[in-house]
Amino acid sequence: MKIAVSGKGGVGKTLIAAGLACYFAGKKRKVIAIDADSSPNLGITLGLSAERMREIIPLSENKQLIEEKTGTEYSGVYRLHFKVDDVIKDYALKTPLGPDLIVMGSVRSMGGGCACAANSLVRNLLQHLIVERNEVVVMDMEAGVEHLGRGTAEHVDTLLIVTDASRKSLETARSITNLARGHIPQIHLIANRITGTFLANEVDAFSRDLDIGLLGIIPYDQAIADAEVRGQSPLTIPESPALSAITKLGKDIEELF
Ligand SMILES: Nc1ncnc2c1ncn2[C@@H]1O[C@H](COP(=O)(O)OP(=O)(O)OP(=O)(O)O)[C@@H](O)[C@H]1O
Ligand SMILES: [Mg+2]
Repeated sequence: MKIAVSGKGGVGKTLIAAGLACYFAGKKRKVIAIDADSSPNLGITLGLSAERMREIIPLSENKQLIEEKTGTEYSGVYRLHFKVDDVIKDYALKTPLGPDLIVMGSVRSMGGGCACAANSLVRNLLQHLIVERNEVVVMDMEAGVEHLGRGTAEHVDTLLIVTDASRKSLETARSITNLARGHIPQIHLIANRITGTFLANEVDAFSRDLDIGLLGIIPYDQAIADAEVRGQSPLTIPESPALSAITKLGKDIEELF
């Protein structure tokens, strides 16, 4: 099961990606959580300290790894030589809440400042991780639509598009849907930060209009926002309606497979 979580900035991608990764880890599945955001913070939600997070070098910025694994014979031609197992063994971090975490960093777009060897390595790693391994992979994507054009979510079997009820995030959800349709087998909309039937109905109407299934509705939960302010993982909050909804989402995704 390979799941990518996308959506506009701040809609709750990281919370949902981390919540799902923990749900599957709790089911005794081997889970790799991939942080593919250029400002990585999935680890904090999975219980790592901010200090620990600051020490992590995303793979896309790890010059030593990149030099070691990409041999350049001709300018612009990279011979990749790595075993995904080795990279996982050396670079995956066990998080306090269970899932293994790989901080990938983002695949940059071509052009100014492009680190092509890094891109090549990260894209290949992602592809191997997603296609060749049996773990549950949950990938927390960079906000917006641009990364889809770079093929970061290629090969996943499920794309979750998280949105709140605002027009702006629904429009981003529309753009993501249009880019991903036909390329990713399952695409589902997830409504997050929902405070009442008016907002839930708005997202529901939008999903019908776009002809994309609304797989989950996650309520707004002040305790989640408060935990983030305290620097505590929001996933450790007891009796949270939002976390219960994410657990239900995990069950529903399992049933779809
Ligand atoms: N259902 C919810 N109820 C209350 N707060 C929420 C909920 N979902 C997310 N939040 C809060 O909203 C903020 C943004 O969430 P999160 O970091 O998961 O979004 P994101 O889409 O990953 O953002 P970014 O685009 O910056 O990576 C966080 O403080 C998070 O705790
Ligand atoms: Mg995030």
